[in-house]
Amino acid sequence: MAQELNSVNISLDFLSVCEAAAIAAARTMGQGDRKYSDHVAVEAMREKMDAVPMRGRIVIGEGERDEAPMLFIGEEVGAGFHDGADPEEFPEVDIAVDPLEGTNLCALGANNAIAVLAASERGGLLNAPDIYMDKIVVGPSSRGAIDIDAPVKDNLKAIARRLSRDIEDLTVIVLERSRHKKLIGDVREAGARIRLISDGDLSAGISAAVAGTNIHALMGIGGAPEGVLTAAAMKCLNGEIQARLVFDHERLGVDKAKVPPANEVLARLREMGINDPNKVYDTNDLAPGRKVIFVATGVTDGALLKGVRFFGAGRRTHSLVMTTESRHIRFVDTVHVEGGPDTVIRF
Ligand code: FBP
Repeated sequence: MAQELNSVNISLDFLSVCEAAAIAAARTMGQGDRKYSDHVAVEAMREKMDAVPMRGRIVIGEGERDEAPMLFIGEEVGAGFHDGADPEEFPEVDIAVDPLEGTNLCALGANNAIAVLAASERGGLLNAPDIYMDKIVVGPSSRGAIDIDAPVKDNLKAIARRLSRDIEDLTVIVLERSRHKKLIGDVREAGARIRLISDGDLSAGISAAVAGTNIHALMGIGGAPEGVLTAAAMKCLNGEIQARLVFDHERLGVDKAKVPPANEVLARLREMGINDPNKVYDTNDLAPGRKVIFVATGVTDGALLKGVRFFGAGRRTHSLVMTTESRHIRFVDTVHVEGGPDTVIRF
């Protein structure tokens, strides 16, 4: 019998994992090389992951084993897999990672790049394929009021009613993509304000669930892995995500040749245990775990998290650490001291 997962304790180990990835990526900020930024984040995250006291399994990662050298789906990570480790002394954990969410944002030095992971007991996170997902994300006040199949205007009306304001006072975040032409038109016609973003719908979704960010919803098609990570965050923040997988080239507004053939995708989905490709997923379908952990560290400055700051004798990181097991939403400001005994720590 593996040890029971103590998600609150282990969340601090995962904090170090995200901090390491964020620091590595932040060093490359503005270098214009998104692949390299991603690569260093993956390496740093993978190295730290092995120190976490668990028998971890990557369920959402950098792709399949043959295309990703580390943090690939199915990879076993953690101290519980070290030679001589007694399996019974470690909890079994499923992990979804995105070592650098917003690779372009980091490469350009733009806002909202984060290093992020979610974890849970075995089976607590949907093993989503790396395809697209249509999403609507709202905060606690609007939970239960939205329907991904309803017209955009109806959803905006429902959100406005829950927030006791007019539709004109809502701000919706949408990824700026040609596939969102109709969505953007519908939001404009309904009268809400829009913030178009170039990348990073995961941190945008989190903002929608936190009051005071002046973001009231995220709508549109982004990555499915980001959808599962968003769901883990929503479980901790009492927000809501509704989502549906998308692989049809017309919905994505791209040439047929640009997406894998539907029969291939359907076969892959079946392999992953997904028999209904049109299923509408809610927060609990995407992150069904009882003990869900969510950790994100800012790489560049963002709405909720500051980016990594480097100074002579160290670095400073800003992170969000949450679990469903405890009622604590922690914003963690860490000074990583590298200098000697005379190092001055600033408030
Ligand atoms: P990366 O960090 O992998 O570059 O992803 C950034 C992102 O903008 C996600 O936030 C979003 O879900 C997805 O890409 C959208 O995909 P696409 O750029 O193909 O429209």
